[in-house]
Amino acid sequence: SKRTLILAFESSCDETSVAVIENGSKILSNVVATQINSHKRFGGVVPEVASRHHIEQITGCIDDALRIAKAQYSDLSAVAVTYGPGLVGALLVGVAAAKAVAFAHNLPLIPVNHMAGHIYAARFVAPIEFPALALLVSGGHTEIVYLPTENEFQIIGETRDDAAGEAYDKVGRVLGMTYPSGKQIDDLAHTGQDTFNFPRAMEKENNFDFSFSGLKSAFINTVHHADQIKETLSKADLAASFQQSVVDVLANKTIRALKQFKVKQLILAGGVAANNGLRERLDIELKAFPEVKLLKAPLNLCGDNAAMIGAAGYVALKNGIHADLDLNADPSLEF
Ligand code: KG4
Ligand code: ZN
Repeated sequence: SKRTLILAFESSCDETSVAVIENGSKILSNVVATQINSHKRFGGVVPEVASRHHIEQITGCIDDALRIAKAQYSDLSAVAVTYGPGLVGALLVGVAAAKAVAFAHNLPLIPVNHMAGHIYAARFVAPIEFPALALLVSGGHTEIVYLPTENEFQIIGETRDDAAGEAYDKVGRVLGMTYPSGKQIDDLAHTGQDTFNFPRAMEKENNFDFSFSGLKSAFINTVHHADQIKETLSKADLAASFQQSVVDVLANKTIRALKQFKVKQLILAGGVAANNGLRERLDIELKAFPEVKLLKAPLNLCGDNAAMIGAAGYVALKNGIHADLDLNADPSLEF
């Protein structure tokens, strides 16, 4: 059978990434140029800085992705690109590059939702079987998504305020960590104990929604109060307590969803899906659901990358989804 090669683009935030994906499931190349070091001193992503870096990096990423994949433009079947959600100036760079390649080489242009891309990163572990549920946890989003079929996404619950990754990054800042601090807190948490018993918001409510701003405030108040009375708290215990609270609410709401929605698979995806505490916890909890297979996005594909956009793009292509050359970035795109 014919190989379907997709050239995929991702530039929604602070990674410029271009990948070549075969048949939606094999990574021939996945070039990721990260800008983290340029944003660190600002404590977060600066949109203007991000756009400029994307412009500087994108053509080199295309060349590298094709060279590593040993592919020519003439081998390609389609071009896929993240067109939202994300930073508008950052998205526009990927969208413009993808349109240029599609136009120059007369290839179909496939628009991909960044969050659908995160879900489809799981495709690199095993084929996705439907119906499925996805726990989607990143720096900008925290949601539980029901997928009745491969191209339908229904958000059944989401955060009312901060995203889980955002809470990690804010709390890390208070502990003096550099941006992004999710991995640093995760590592430190494994050396501490849950001694602070921070709030677990909305845990008992009969829905699939989350709230992390109360947890963030409780954490900050605890640290500031200790500073005022000149008491030194254990950073490891603070990290462990924070992480336990986040993992508890994410796991409990996911279990509630698994009880209501009979699915074949649970997909864990997004930047925070790299969290060891969360991965271990879901491994344990899923033993009570032997009919549900847990698909965790591979560790190296939890963060933003173009490989996942290529996987989602392949599914969209199969479903006949195309964009015209007037495709625009949509910073607040929803499913
Ligand atoms: O999906 P992603 O790369 O970008 C967005 O689309 O937002 O997610 C980035 C987020 C950051 O907030 C980062 O701190 C968090 O993922 N993160 C983690 C871990 N690794 C990355 N959070 C908790 N534990 C981790 N191991
Ligand atoms: Zn992302």
